[in-house]
Amino acid sequence: MRTNVAIIGGGPAGLMLSQLLNRAGISTVVLERRSRDYVLSRIRAGVLEHGTVEMMHRAGIADRMQREGHPHEGCFLSTEAGMFRVDFEAQCGQSVMVYGQTEVTQDLYAAQDQIGATVIHEAEDVMPHDIDGTPFVTYEKNGHTHRVDCDFIAGCDGFHGVSRKTIPAEKKREFERVYPFGWLGVLSRTAPAAPELIYANHPRGFALASMRNDHLSRYYIQVPSDDRPENWSDDAFWAELKRRLPEDVADSMETGPSIEKSIAPLRSYVCATMRFGKLFLAGDAAHIVPPTGAKGLNLAMSDVHYLSEGLIGHYERKDDSGLDGYSDRALTRVWRAIRFSWWMTSILHRFPEQDDFDQRMQEMELENLRDLDAARQAMALNYVGLPF
Ligand code: APR
Ligand code: PHB
Repeated sequence: MRTNVAIIGGGPAGLMLSQLLNRAGISTVVLERRSRDYVLSRIRAGVLEHGTVEMMHRAGIADRMQREGHPHEGCFLSTEAGMFRVDFEAQCGQSVMVYGQTEVTQDLYAAQDQIGATVIHEAEDVMPHDIDGTPFVTYEKNGHTHRVDCDFIAGCDGFHGVSRKTIPAEKKREFERVYPFGWLGVLSRTAPAAPELIYANHPRGFALASMRNDHLSRYYIQVPSDDRPENWSDDAFWAELKRRLPEDVADSMETGPSIEKSIAPLRSYVCATMRFGKLFLAGDAAHIVPPTGAKGLNLAMSDVHYLSEGLIGHYERKDDSGLDGYSDRALTRVWRAIRFSWWMTSILHRFPEQDDFDQRMQEMELENLRDLDAARQAMALNYVGLPF
């Protein structure tokens, strides 16, 4: 096979890149390790920044989001001193869209089918070759080895993918912070506990009340890093969640059977080389944020925005400035989101080695947010998404 851009990974980053490039007349081949059903079965994030919403429109996949998505103009922060609201619309004139990543991925697959894009599932042992010369990608399928010759390779294969590993170690500068806890998440066919998200700082640990729609709720509680989903019955989960949410919310919330229960580890990671030769990294392949700031999916989208612009410049105008500037441009926004996600994580969670002074500083950060308009504006601007 021959194509302009070989894309490794058929998650949100890979599919959105394929969609934008094909709409610009640039050919792609997406190589995804898993089956389509498996990719669509993964439960992930649920908050789209306004920049991501705009990209959905640009990619021609915004119809269902417009019908089924829920615009949110603010969120709540809960502490022992009470609950307060951060009003995104009032603070910065923007809002976010609550619409599941699963739905985004479903809309991307439907659009890719419609334009006849090439997405190869269950492609095994995908391997980039000659990434600093004349690149090509090989993969195994149905017992045969296949080869895709291309001009560029986009590594959209997530944190555990193959792309980042093919960049020589001496060319990579990596930063990492592993947090000493995880998030136990539950999806349930119940009405959301509140009309907007509630981020709770509680002495027993962090909790988050979120949702996918009026009949599908998503909740999280902070658990130790070595905890396991099977340690938690539904009843135990609901009881612990209620302890950490405001009393009036806990008393009135609907509970029910979990239809998904999993634990996500929390980590901040940046590979500060998002381009090597003809290989470009985008999304989780290049960076990981703790889910606290709801930035993972949105960062994948801003990377794809910059990378698609660079590739379109190359093919339409023989202008490589976008490609040459991709890594620096994407990393500028990545680092701002990494900081915001780290900050949200540090003020909302109980850290095992936290002492009284740390505890007091958390309380003061939250008081600062509650009482200072400028502090709430800074949070709102970062939460709804900094400009691309
Ligand atoms: N070969 C081919 N495909 C691979 C390989 C490989 N070696 N390794 C991983 N993949 C596939 C995975 O199966 C997955 O479908 O690459 C895709 C990567 O998708 P994501 O992990 O979703 O990453 P990304 O598209 O960058 O989206 C980031 O997804 O995981 C969430 O929290 C994350 O919300 C963020 C968003
Ligand atoms: C979710 O609904 O899954 C969600 C929302 C906000 C976050 C993290 C996860 O910060």
